[in-house]
Amino acid sequence: MLVSAKEMLTKAKAGKYAVGQFNINNLEWTKAILLTAQECNSPVILGVSEGAGKYMCGFNTVAGMVNGMLKTLNITVPVALHLDHGSYDAALQAMEDGFSSVMFDGSHYGIEENIEKTKEIIRIANEKGISVEAEVGAIGGEEDGVIGGGEVADPDECKMIADLGVTMLAAGIGNIHGVYPENWQGLNFEVLAKIQEKTGTMPLVLHGGTGIPAEMVKKAITLGVSKVNVNTECQLAFAAATRQYIEAGKDQQGKGFDPRKLLAPGTEAIKATVKEKMELFGSVDKA
Ligand code: 13P
Repeated sequence: MLVSAKEMLTKAKAGKYAVGQFNINNLEWTKAILLTAQECNSPVILGVSEGAGKYMCGFNTVAGMVNGMLKTLNITVPVALHLDHGSYDAALQAMEDGFSSVMFDGSHYGIEENIEKTKEIIRIANEKGISVEAEVGAIGGEEDGVIGGGEVADPDECKMIADLGVTMLAAGIGNIHGVYPENWQGLNFEVLAKIQEKTGTMPLVLHGGTGIPAEMVKKAITLGVSKVNVNTECQLAFAAATRQYIEAGKDQQGKGFDPRKLLAPGTEAIKATVKEKMELFGSVDKA
């Protein structure tokens, strides 16, 4: 059964480790992540962006697939199904369709509107026992069209949003989605420390987990990060393994074109990536 992310993240914050959110795109992704979580005896959060939700034929289809797998694969570790960067309407829809956790990304609204909308999402989520992630932070440091710094949140605004009763808070500390540019300045630990000081026991979320050096991730966890989001890294691993299979001509040998064979190396590559991250985040054996 799906669970909200609340308990797993409260434990992670207290135990100074982080739970990984791995974004899913299809059946292979979902199966790979769930099997790895079970093998590692680790809690896990399956992230679904609005775009991925549409691609997979709607949140109801995703919830059906995930619930089916939990049962058929005998998954006993805690699993949350989480809407990633949801708009207000998408958050309502995901809650309706059986997600156990939602992110309402109101970071592009002014702080007042962000607060109003977040409050309403929390009210509905509380009725259903669903966890809520909110985001604070504006895009910073742009030069020649290249974003060098990423988002840096205002610790006071973080406190305001945290006090609304969200389950976990995403705060920009120089992190960005996708592969980091060469001139990336790294995470802003000074701001992270201030956010943690202001928000106390609130589990903090680090987005853009792909490509952040292991030492920085570990340090962020010591400063209150309890959830790390990873998406692009699984995509790169899947693409590289699939490319290797095809370039080696394996799809043209025997029944190598069978999708169950063609997609197997990529699926294994996702498993290896997820395992490596769970070890880095310290969530192994924390189910
Ligand atoms: P990456 O794609 O950079 O790993 O970011 C994932 C993420 O933060 C999803 O919200």
